[in-house]
Amino acid sequence: MRVLITGGAGFIGRHLAGLLVSHGHEVVALDMLHPQVHLDPSLAISAFPGKVISGDVSEPAAWHGLPAVDALVHLAAETGVGQSMYEVERYRSVNVGGTRAAAQFAAACGIPLVSLSSRAVYGEGRYECPGHGVIFGSRCCAQAVPAPSAEDDPLRPTSVYGKTKAEAEAVAATVLADEGQLTIIRPQNVIGPGQALHNPYTGVLAAFLAMLREGKALTVYGSGQQTRDFVHVSDLARQIAWQLETPPAPGRIRVVNSGTGVRSTLLDLARAAIDAAPTGSVDIVHRDVQRAGDIEHACADLARCTALGVPLPSIGLRQSVFDFIGASWTHPGAPASAWDDALRELGDRGLTS
Ligand code: UD1
Repeated sequence: MRVLITGGAGFIGRHLAGLLVSHGHEVVALDMLHPQVHLDPSLAISAFPGKVISGDVSEPAAWHGLPAVDALVHLAAETGVGQSMYEVERYRSVNVGGTRAAAQFAAACGIPLVSLSSRAVYGEGRYECPGHGVIFGSRCCAQAVPAPSAEDDPLRPTSVYGKTKAEAEAVAATVLADEGQLTIIRPQNVIGPGQALHNPYTGVLAAFLAMLREGKALTVYGSGQQTRDFVHVSDLARQIAWQLETPPAPGRIRVVNSGTGVRSTLLDLARAAIDAAPTGSVDIVHRDVQRAGDIEHACADLARCTALGVPLPSIGLRQSVFDFIGASWTHPGAPASAWDDALRELGDRGLTS
């Protein structure tokens, strides 16, 4: 089949496109080639194994005159949790407006849509407490322990980013309510080769890489006991491909998590990054700071994926970090100071505590 991938020239899109081509499909990307992500757009275009059409998914004009396709994967989004807290309109227009347009396109063409949401829709997620039972959205007391988030858990996003993703899910479900074939995937923290290295508003692992390359100590915000579920991009790509090839029946909406189901601390991540670096060891330092919208704990419940037969991730944290560091070490990227600047910018706006 021929698959249109919005945001196809980005991190997840490139992995997915390569995999789909290896399965015998044809791919077309619709991508705005945002300078915050793509330092050299021509490189991104040449790396994509199909035609790249330049366009912003939140602009109606971008959806006109596209080639006929058999399925749509919607990846294009603004993804910085911290940045979302002050670029509210841009995040809303791209994440909600872009998803509405994607769903309308899928409805008009009568094709299945796989739309990427985020685990950020759960916010602080699920806690289990011997005294208070199951609680969502915040820890009730010191006895409560974080538990994996399941797809039917209540949505309690804490960041503008998470709110736009929750709204986008609802909008897509409304547009495709009748005969549409909609799959919504909620990935946890996606890492791996090809991750943006120039965008100081994205992932902590890119920040750690910049620090390691400069021989600087890794800066962990807070205690480092925060947890995340780090999923390798190629595992996510396999799941998206499976969803495309196994769409839900018309009129059915499928919502699934994507993660390993394994919780790692930020300190685990920092140590894995240090061990994977080809240079000598560096220290880990702590900064007593929290970004507005940051959550403490995240991990995916995989029961629904398992029941559906979705291919489960096979790559663990250390291998994912090793792959990322090995593939990225010699690639150009922002200096470590860019992450300090981004944090300072948040502080100046009153968005750190
Ligand atoms: C990430 C993604 C988001 C995705 C979500 C899924 C980014 C910006 N956000 O959010 O798109 O939907 O996962 O849950 O990629 N930190 C440090 N030191 C640093 C930088 C960050 O300790 O130099 C900490 C942060 O405070 C946070 C943790 O690392 O506690 C993870 O931050 P980050 O990689 O930005 O991801 P999330 O906020 O989890």
